[in-house]
Amino acid sequence: MANFDVVFIGGGPAGYTGAIRAGQLGLNVACIESRGSLGGTCLNVGCIPSKALLQSSENYHQVKHKFSEHGIQIGKLEFDVAQMLKRKDGIVSGLTKGIEGLLKKNKVTYIKGKASFVNPNTVKVALTDGGSEEHTAKNFVISTGSSPIELRSIAPFDGKDIVSSTEALTFDKVPEHLVVVGAGVIGLEMGSVWMRLGAKVTVIEALDRVLPPMDGAVSVEMKKILEKQGMNFLLGCKLLKAEKSGKSLKVTYEQEGKSKDLSCDKVLVAVGRRAYTDGLGLENVGIATRKDGKIDVNHHYQTSVAHIRAVGDVIDGPMLAHKADEEGVAVAELIAGKPGHVNYQAIPNVVYTWPEVASVGSTEEELKAKGVDYKVGKIPFMANGRARCFGETDGFVKIIADAKSDKIIGAHIIGPNASELIAELVIGVEFSASAEDIGRSSHAHPTLAEVMKEAALAVDKRALNF
Ligand code: NAI
Repeated sequence: MANFDVVFIGGGPAGYTGAIRAGQLGLNVACIESRGSLGGTCLNVGCIPSKALLQSSENYHQVKHKFSEHGIQIGKLEFDVAQMLKRKDGIVSGLTKGIEGLLKKNKVTYIKGKASFVNPNTVKVALTDGGSEEHTAKNFVISTGSSPIELRSIAPFDGKDIVSSTEALTFDKVPEHLVVVGAGVIGLEMGSVWMRLGAKVTVIEALDRVLPPMDGAVSVEMKKILEKQGMNFLLGCKLLKAEKSGKSLKVTYEQEGKSKDLSCDKVLVAVGRRAYTDGLGLENVGIATRKDGKIDVNHHYQTSVAHIRAVGDVIDGPMLAHKADEEGVAVAELIAGKPGHVNYQAIPNVVYTWPEVASVGSTEEELKAKGVDYKVGKIPFMANGRARCFGETDGFVKIIADAKSDKIIGAHIIGPNASELIAELVIGVEFSASAEDIGRSSHAHPTLAEVMKEAALAVDKRALNF
């Protein structure tokens, strides 16, 4: 007899959310987590702590650079990195304890330890507090997430100076010169934190643009804005080596076929993340991982062993907490015999720089490559009264609609509060709204959201305030 209906292996956004949903549906559920706290990368060493530091550093930046424009004079301005880190840690521990409470409320058994398959129906858990135990289940869900990619042969992590995003969240003082490898989401977010607090930041990126998968217009604007804030970019440059050189670090990179180097005190390697399935005993159940570490699943998230499913960062798709939690819910519903489903076209993507970047659906480049006929409406925040009152006029809203049906197929925002504004267009995509639907919806005045309405009207070349 299996002692659980379903066991989630991994208590990140995919695993704990799926466990809660499975509990709501009346299943006998367990969630096994080895980290010692729930919430996964997102809550412990990712989304939440980085946003806490982004907020602290942005507040400092605002006071230092923007308050005088409002007629507010501040005397001596100081900041305390230790207090920023303490605040961040407090937010994280409060939220992880909250998840423990949610598991309890939904009658999910929380098992602290590292699980490994013994056979297709049994996992052995090496318990965090010592010893081990075995559990059987009718269904298993692998939700073990991902870990930072290490460039082991050219820039191995040392946990102190050449680091991943995890350690870049814990620097106890502001680096003098931080070199970031990779102009992706983590590179730009963590680069922004330390730049705002006074570090010189140089970003080395192999491709010729920042935020490579984002819409081209957003990439161009983002680079321009971050350069204005002081960030340095070495685009089209490949990292060759990062190593200790006396008291500092020597970073060697290739630019236009020539080898160059620079000196710094910290290197953040942010070149992507890799599915994490180490020690899971997949070989004992006959589930293969791909070269990129991911597990193949069908549209019901079933692996090659039907009652063992996988969701979140270990399978295809963007490595995003909210994509993972949607999959957690869907997999729980499927296991309970319900029609669980995720609309991947309606998953937003956000970068928490300032201004923020947010998008949903297709980019113009993707649509061109597919030969789709589309129309674009693009309005700058400069044309918006509220943005001017905020003193935040950088950026734009770009809405892409199908040329024939007018259905919204992509939306790209770079600007103040883009992370919140995108929700309107996510709902639009989810409900198959046309650009005209958004353009005819009343938006409160004065709000930043009016830029969305104007961009929707601009799709039909009838913007009213631009
Ligand atoms: P990423 O995939 O966003 O960016 C990595 C960048 O590194 C790419 O631009 C790539 O061209 C570049 N690169 C790769 N190898 C290189 C080399 N040898 N030299 C120079 N450049 C090189 O990966 P990132 O920023 O590490 O983030 C990992 C994952 O975490 C992403 O998939 C992202 O979805 C997720 N994440 C999401 C956040 C959010 O939603 N706000 C925040 C942080 C992470």
